[in-house]
Amino acid sequence: MQRTLVLLKPDCIQRRLIGSLIQRFEQKGLRLVGMKFLQPSRELAEKHYAVHKGKPFYESLLTFLTSGPAVAIVWEGREAVAVVREMMGKTDGAKSPPGTIRGDYGISVQNNLIHGSDSTENAAMEINLWFAPNELVAYQPVDASWIG
Ligand code: RTP
Ligand code: MG
Repeated sequence: MQRTLVLLKPDCIQRRLIGSLIQRFEQKGLRLVGMKFLQPSRELAEKHYAVHKGKPFYESLLTFLTSGPAVAIVWEGREAVAVVREMMGKTDGAKSPPGTIRGDYGISVQNNLIHGSDSTENAAMEINLWFAPNELVAYQPVDASWIG
């Protein structure tokens, strides 16, 4: 069982798509472990996207991620990291196929609605960055044996 971090970025909140995106992950069978609504600080955004420091889009990306509130979510499930990445689509909404989140809701490269961890190692780091241990809730859903 894996855990992964999802961010619903500020454009998702401004476009009132929080519910639509969360519904997709719920329906897929992922289990909600943690969720918070917050205004990301510059410091948090810098840590989250540290791997992109120095790239041409870095400053613009930080401005975007701190431009309004975001929703941070931890999902759990079988192959959760890859499942979420597949559901997101490609970075560029214009190149993401219909059926993916970015393909269905956007055409921008930067304002692409959602972040998902790209490896189990980064998921662990990112979950630790956005959540305190006592903000994550472990439980056994009654349908667990049906979901797999
Ligand atoms: P994310 O980290 O947010 O899940 O997105 P990703 O893996 O698909 O893409 P990544 O290469 O990690 O880029 C992080 C975010 O930076 C913005 N970006 N802008 N203008 C550009 O060329 C450009 N490239 C990336 C996007 O918001 C992207 O999600
Ligand atoms: Mg990335």
